[in-house]
Formats: sequence, structure tokens, C-alpha cells
Amino acid sequence: MNRKVSVIGGGGNVGASVGVYVAERGLADVVLIDVIEGVPMGKALDLTQAAPLRGSNARLTGSNDLADVKGSDVVVVTAGFPRKPGMSRSDLLAANAEIVRGAAEAVKKNAPQAILIVVTNPLDVMAYLAFKASGFPKNRVLGMAGVLDSARFRAFVAMELGVAAVDVQAMVLGGHGDSMVPLPRYTTVGGIPITELLPADAIERLSQRTRDGGAEIVGLLKTGSAYYAPAASTVEMVQAVLKDEKRLLPCSVFLSGEYGLRDLFIGVPCVLGAGGVERVLELPLSEGEKSALTKSANAVAKDISELHLPATP
Ligand SMILES: NC(=O)c1ccc[n+]([C@@H]2O[C@H](COP(=O)([O-])OP(=O)(O)OC[C@H]3O[C@@H](n4cnc5c(N)ncnc54)[C@H](O)[C@@H]3O)[C@@H](O)[C@H]2O)c1
Repeated sequence: MNRKVSVIGGGGNVGASVGVYVAERGLADVVLIDVIEGVPMGKALDLTQAAPLRGSNARLTGSNDLADVKGSDVVVVTAGFPRKPGMSRSDLLAANAEIVRGAAEAVKKNAPQAILIVVTNPLDVMAYLAFKASGFPKNRVLGMAGVLDSARFRAFVAMELGVAAVDVQAMVLGGHGDSMVPLPRYTTVGGIPITELLPADAIERLSQRTRDGGAEIVGLLKTGSAYYAPAASTVEMVQAVLKDEKRLLPCSVFLSGEYGLRDLFIGVPCVLGAGGVERVLELPLSEGEKSALTKSANAVAKDISELHLPATP
């Protein structure tokens, strides 16, 4: 029997694109679930018709019923509003909290063994909410942001140096917001740190473009936010879990003292495998990096406090 990946919000841009990449890689059967009538079924049928051309044997279906997450190995939550020009991710908090809470409760009821990957913004806050509302252990709830932010940094470094993007590895920590923390010391091209290849001002320019990476695309699209790279980043995480790859990827996870932080979700390097978050890696950070991470954590904690949830004991 094939593995099963459900996408709540699967009628939307990021969700449907997650379906495309999961199916194209043959990772699992896909259920696109959304509140809009007809759209998830229409997109699933369209993708089913693309399958013979794209060499995929994955089965794709659409649904308007959250109970159809039943039996999923992985559930991805992309349901909720995206940003419009001029909005910060935090501006989405109130509107998306109820949607994510409902999604997490449905997963708790119908797919109690699943690994839950949250994509909806504001990311770290919504991942925390999904953790609370699902009651899942902390290793089975992850937020997707660091893979995307690192991919953006990788792409910009590759463009600057005229090298293959696949040869660039990057690490971006912190919350998925304006205070995210790109780490140039841990960003390499073919194993060489970029601090050996680029002057400090160029590194700062590319780091800032990474922090503004989402807003740059919102400004161009005008009616929504990025979705191809976000979906591809999510599917890196889905694959790491389904294939038990033990990938070392930055993910937003619940911290209980690592990096001196607790009772919040924030992006840190993790080992991802069949058990979800199997390990959190604590990198030695410079004073500057540490204070940037603390500042980012404070911004996430402030948004979390707006959910008015009881603290985790
Ligand atoms: N974490 C990241 O790095 C990252 C990157 C890109 C987008 N996002 C976020 O992902 C979310 C989705 O973005 P998008 O571009 O796909 O938006 P979209 O508007 O295209 O899709 C969202 C979908 O969610 C559906 N939806 C709303 N309420 C629902 C519910 N209760 N149950 C099921 N489905 C529901 C909508 O009908 C819509 O189809 C946004 O919050 C966006 O900010 C996060």
C-alpha cells in the first residue's frame, strides 16, 4: 500500500504545489483537502491526468472533508490567508489561528499517528498552535520555514558567484520573519565558507535580500505570496520523513531549553527522519548570532502570547 500525504489547504497555491511535487517524486498518494467546493477535486483530477505524462503512479484525490486525513503518514497544513503587499506575516495571526486550530484538531481525531508539518503563517506561531491543539508529542509537529529561507539564501549566493545553486549549502535560523538569522559562517560553496569567497558587504546584502525574500515576491505578485519554493521546501521535509533520510535541515520546532530557549517554536537545525524531529543540533554561536537569535525568539514569543494559550509545563 502506498504511503499517504494529506494537504489541508490543498486547493490553494502552496498546497496544490505540494501535491504536484509529492506526486512527481512518487513519494505517496495525495489527498488535497480544502473548504472551497470543487477546487481540490478539480486540481486533483487535473494532476491525475498529468500523471501519465509525468511518469507518476501516485493517486491524487480532492476532498472538502477534513476527516479524509484518516490514515495519513504526513499531514501538511497550508490552509489560511497569504500576505498582500504591505502586510507582515504577523498581520495574519488572528485570521489564520482559527483555521489552523481546526485543522490540528481534525488531525488529532482522524490521523493520530501522523507527522504534522505546518506551513501557514505566521509560521512559528501557527506551528506552536498546532502543537497545542493536536496534543502531539513535540517530535511530530514541525514548521516549514528554514528550508525555504536557506534555499533563498542559496539561490542568491549562487547568482552572486555564478556557481551551481546545488553546490551552495546554507543555514538560516530563527523565526520566519524579518528577524530571521542567516548564518554566513555556516554557508558554503562546495565546502568553502562564503566568508572566504565574498566581501562582508556583499554577504550582508544577500542576507538582507533573504530576510526580505518573501516580501520581494509578494510585491511582484501583488495578489498573493510565493508558492513554488515554499512547496518544494515542504516536500524536502515530507521526503525526509517518509524515506527516513536523517536529513539535517533547519525546521521550526518546539524548544525545551536548547539555545537557552523554551516553550516556543523557532527555526533550528534538526535531524529529520521517520520519527519526525529526531534531534536538535546546538551549533556554537558567536555573541552577535546569539543576540540575533534571542531577538528573533522575542518577536515569536510576543506573537505566541497573543494566542492566550496556557504555557507548556
Ligand atoms: N512557511 C512559509 O515559509 C510559507 C511560505 C509561503 C506561504 N506560506 C503561508 O501558507 C499559507 C497558504 O498560502 P497560499 O499561497 O497557498 O494561499 P492560498 O490562498 O492560495 O491557499 C490557502 C487555501 O487555504 C484554504 N482554506 C482556508 N480555510 C481553510 C480551512 N478551514 N480548511 C481547509 N482549507 C482552508 C483556502 O480555501 C485556500 O485554498 C499562507 O498562510 C501563507 O502565508 C508560508
